[in-house]
Amino acid sequence: MRLCIAEPLAARPAVLDEIRRLDPSLTWSVWSGDRWTDEGGATLGPQMLVAWKLPDGWTALPDRTAAVFCFGAGHDQLTDDPRLPRDLPVMRLIDPGQTQQICDYVLAAVFERLLGPIGLSAGKGGGRHWPEAMIPRMARRDLRVTVLGLGATGSVVAGQVAALGFSVRGWSRRMRVVPGCEVLAGETTLFDAAADADVLVNLLPGADELGGVLSAPIFGRLANGSHLVHLGRGLHLVEADLRSALDAGRPAFAWLDVFAREPLPPEHWFWRDPRIHVTPHTAGLPTAEDAARSIVAAAHALRDGTPLPGRIR
Ligand SMILES: NC(=O)c1ccc[n+]([C@@H]2O[C@H](COP(=O)([O-])OP(=O)(O)OC[C@H]3O[C@@H](n4cnc5c(N)ncnc54)[C@H](OP(=O)(O)O)[C@@H]3O)[C@@H](O)[C@H]2O)c1
Repeated sequence: MRLCIAEPLAARPAVLDEIRRLDPSLTWSVWSGDRWTDEGGATLGPQMLVAWKLPDGWTALPDRTAAVFCFGAGHDQLTDDPRLPRDLPVMRLIDPGQTQQICDYVLAAVFERLLGPIGLSAGKGGGRHWPEAMIPRMARRDLRVTVLGLGATGSVVAGQVAALGFSVRGWSRRMRVVPGCEVLAGETTLFDAAADADVLVNLLPGADELGGVLSAPIFGRLANGSHLVHLGRGLHLVEADLRSALDAGRPAFAWLDVFAREPLPPEHWFWRDPRIHVTPHTAGLPTAEDAARSIVAAAHALRDGTPLPGRIR
């Protein structure tokens, strides 16, 4: 079994070293933009392509590709590509470390909404302000968090936020059970899931039918002063609707990690709006150890003819 690695994040030395440590018999080629660089000599056996998406300019997959390993959570950029043969098995990355990073990002946003800015630094004009009356603190159970998408990532996020005592509602296509959460399922319940949410977390996948899902109708259902945490796909967000919604205070603040155009152009208004916190698609990054373990497990299953872990088709 040989790996054909066409994703720079998967070809980092830390990942390759870990793959080598886990299985010294695995060999690979790395795509460097215009050619393959081989390690370990050629092989006549089956190959597993490791990619986030197929590189521009490819008209066919490498010879003897027996399966594709999607190096990331969302997979539509790969599975919707007409160059990918329909009958080829596709597996996805299983990376608990990355999922935990997403949880941490969401928790930062949830606590920010719960507590508000804690103190003001002198640089932000504070330092001398001592309010007459203290604003009462909200209890965790009174803060309503809605998580859209209860898949591999969203279900863990919803479970961790609920375990900390917040009121969590989740939404998915089919009914799911997530301990401590109320779950709504199916298209007709989407807006109900967002109703009165203080924090709306988007962890939906890049399906065409979900394009523009974060727009005026859903924003209008949120609680006043709510926060949006957008981690799904750029195509979900209607940017003009977000601007109007921020003006109306529903949501009043947005954490944005994914964008219709990445990198986000320097002139984009998101960078300058104080009601927006931009992160450059870094909420959850693949971790070297978990990524290598997931790739090796996929390659072994393919070699041994056992069930493919993380198979998505
Ligand atoms: N920003 C980051 O750093 C980062 C990191 C990781 C993931 N993500 C993003 O997070 C999103 C979720 O990832 P995931 O791994 O949790 O995905 P997943 O396992 O595929 O889960 C998708 C969830 O969305 C639901 N869903 C609702 N409508 C759907 C539709 N029309 N088609 C397909 N699913 C639909 C699914 O419902 P069912 O449960 O009924 O199938 C499922 O609960 C993706 O967009 C991914 O790119 C971002």
